[in-house]
Amino acid sequence: MASSAARLPLPALFALLGALLPGTGGAQTSVDPPEDIIPRGGSMQVTCRASCDGNAVLGLETPLTKKEVANGINWKTYELSDIQEDSTPLCFSNCNGIQSTASVTLIVYSLPKRVELAPLPPWQPVGEDLTLRCEVEGGAPRTNLSVLLLRGEEELSRQLAEGETAEFTLLASRGDHGANFSCRTELDLRPKNRGLFQNSSVPRQLRTFVLPKTHPHLVSPRIMEVGTQQHVNCTLDGLFPASEAQVHLVLEDHRLETTVEYNKDSLLATAYIKANTEEEGTQQLTCTVTLGNQSQWTLENVTIYSFPAPILTLSPPNVSEGTVVSVECKACAGAVVTLQGAPAGPPGPSAQFLLNATSNDDGRIFLCSAALEVAGTVLRKNTTQELRVLYGPRLEESDCPRNWTWQEGSQETLKCEARGNPPPKVVCRRKGGNGSSLPIRKQILVKRQISGTYMCQAMGFQGEVTREVVVNVTYNSNQVVTIILVAAAVTLISVCTAAYLYNRQRKIREYKLQKAREANAMKLNTPP
Ligand SMILES: *[C@@H]1O[C@H](CO)[C@@H](O)[C@H](O)[C@H]1NC(C)=O
Ligand SMILES: *[C@@H]1O[C@H](CO)[C@@H](O)[C@H](O)[C@H]1NC(C)=O
Ligand SMILES: *[C@@H]1O[C@H](CO)[C@@H](O)[C@H](O)[C@H]1NC(C)=O
Ligand SMILES: *[C@@H]1O[C@H](CO)[C@@H](O)[C@H](O)[C@H]1NC(C)=O
Ligand SMILES: *[C@@H]1O[C@H](CO)[C@@H](O)[C@H](O)[C@H]1NC(C)=O
Ligand SMILES: *[C@@H]1O[C@H](CO)[C@@H](O)[C@H](O)[C@H]1NC(C)=O
Ligand SMILES: *[C@@H]1O[C@H](CO)[C@@H](O)[C@H](O)[C@H]1NC(C)=O
Ligand SMILES: *[C@@H]1O[C@H](CO)[C@@H](O)[C@H](O)[C@H]1NC(C)=O
Ligand SMILES: *[C@@H]1O[C@H](CO)[C@@H](O)[C@H](O)[C@H]1NC(C)=O
Ligand SMILES: *[C@@H]1O[C@H](CO)[C@@H](O)[C@H](O)[C@H]1NC(C)=O
Ligand SMILES: *[C@@H]1O[C@H](CO)[C@@H](O)[C@H](O)[C@H]1NC(C)=O
Repeated sequence: MASSAARLPLPALFALLGALLPGTGGAQTSVDPPEDIIPRGGSMQVTCRASCDGNAVLGLETPLTKKEVANGINWKTYELSDIQEDSTPLCFSNCNGIQSTASVTLIVYSLPKRVELAPLPPWQPVGEDLTLRCEVEGGAPRTNLSVLLLRGEEELSRQLAEGETAEFTLLASRGDHGANFSCRTELDLRPKNRGLFQNSSVPRQLRTFVLPKTHPHLVSPRIMEVGTQQHVNCTLDGLFPASEAQVHLVLEDHRLETTVEYNKDSLLATAYIKANTEEEGTQQLTCTVTLGNQSQWTLENVTIYSFPAPILTLSPPNVSEGTVVSVECKACAGAVVTLQGAPAGPPGPSAQFLLNATSNDDGRIFLCSAALEVAGTVLRKNTTQELRVLYGPRLEESDCPRNWTWQEGSQETLKCEARGNPPPKVVCRRKGGNGSSLPIRKQILVKRQISGTYMCQAMGFQGEVTREVVVNVTYNSNQVVTIILVAAAVTLISVCTAAYLYNRQRKIREYKLQKAREANAMKLNTPP
């Protein structure tokens, strides 16, 4: 508007100029301004002029809405309004029958009605070309309208807006992840002093990703027994951005509860498989890593089996000697049992044999081993049973020696064991007499009185048995008497010797005394 106002005095100026120009003799039409650029829908004034000696007939030929706003001799000013498109109005004049024309070049400019960045793919693989489309609706003149692609505020590329959309191709990189892209239009009317007009689209954020072409590494058990629980884990390296990756661990169609740990560019997913009876058989375990719109997966087979230990039956479990026992082992279908002691037969899930129980079989352990092949692995399970044979009692020389000879005063232990099941009780009593018992398996001090014959009696499963046991106690009676006698003799001899010697000394003394008395008496009787 300001521009058209600035133009108002121009027609007058041109009128003056025209008047000053020397007459060419011929008719000449001129127009002012010869060209202009105006906003769409705007209006402007055009002055048509004729250089004519006389009065020329003037007019403006245009499909635009026009209005004569001023006139004078050989000039007319029109106002053109609501100019929507480029156009070239034509001034004409008729001067003395000579017609001439002059045209105005009107260029309409307008800003784009819409500038938009077409939606981006939700995820863009790194290293692949991405085409971004800027949609520009409206905007004129197109020759001066550029479309720019911006990443943040950085201009990546520009081109002239030719059609409705401008396409830009970009090699997606890791750095583009999270970046905001937008389109901008620039209508550059600076050559015509109308400035630079910019319009921008709403930004769109791009997400780029890297999912390697390798499969995830899945670690899982190949076989699992029903009722057990096992750990599985799945890893994948080289992910970008790792934290955006999704992992699913699925057993057949059952999704496992998964814990995911993210590292810089890798992830580790862990889960537990609980083997249930319903899942018996070969199950497929898959680990799927999804990033962007791509997935990588790995499949492993997990065979879930049930393999109860074989059932080993001794019937009856407790028998008496001489009874036939049936030993039978049964395992699940598909297994092969090996029953220890059974005659060789065709391999199968069961085996059995009969046994005439002897006392030696008491405590015998029967082993049944079952083998089952699961997914190429041979599994083994064992069951054992102990046979109890009731027998006895038995008293044998080896366990209950018949003859014991002990030294009086020594410490000795009487051994007398009875064999049998249940273990028999043994008591040894003196034969005849008062029937006092002799302790078994207990150390005793040997006295002369314990010597004698004992009846050892064992009470057991099949009644009782007895065995005579002789205990001899040795001692040295003669020696003691001799010692006493010798001692007594020595004592006697000593006493006698002492008495004799004493007597003899006394007699000598008495004799000497007598002699002395006799001598004294003679001295007294003899006169000097
Ligand atoms: C373009 O920008 C101008 C100002 O520069 C604004 O008035 C106009 O509404 C914008 N057009 C669109 C479509 O955003
Ligand atoms: C992922 O998206 C890209 C672009 O959006 C597309 O070209 C590609 O086919 C898609 N890939 C898959 C596996 O859907
Ligand atoms: C992109 O725009 C979103 C919101 O519009 C903003 O949160 C994010 O930080 C921007 N990204 C960059 C790289 O500027
Ligand atoms: C459009 O651009 C061209 C080339 O820069 C220039 O010559 C012309 O004057 C411009 N048009 C307008 C209306 O500014
Ligand atoms: C993955 O599982 C296997 C076996 O279950 C285990 O040996 C290994 O340590 C696990 N790896 C990690 C990273 O947890
Ligand atoms: C899984 O088992 C199927 C048959 O049940 C077999 O065809 C496939 O090759 C197995 N896959 C693996 C990875 O062992
Ligand atoms: C078999 O004998 C053992 C010990 O000898 C005993 O513990 C078990 O109860 C007995 N079993 C039967 C069925 O009699
Ligand atoms: C078992 O063996 C005992 C002695 O060896 C014999 O007397 C008995 O008849 C046998 N019993 C059977 C059923 O063969
Ligand atoms: C089962 O018995 C077999 C044969 O005696 C033996 O080789 C295997 O080690 C046993 N297995 C177990 C688990 O006891
Ligand atoms: C018992 O043993 C003693 C000495 O060892 C021997 O003199 C005696 O003859 C034996 N008696 C019997 C019945 O064996
Ligand atoms: C039984 O007799 C033995 C000798 O024959 C004797 O030593 C013991 O004291 C007597 N026991 C009883 C309880 O009378």
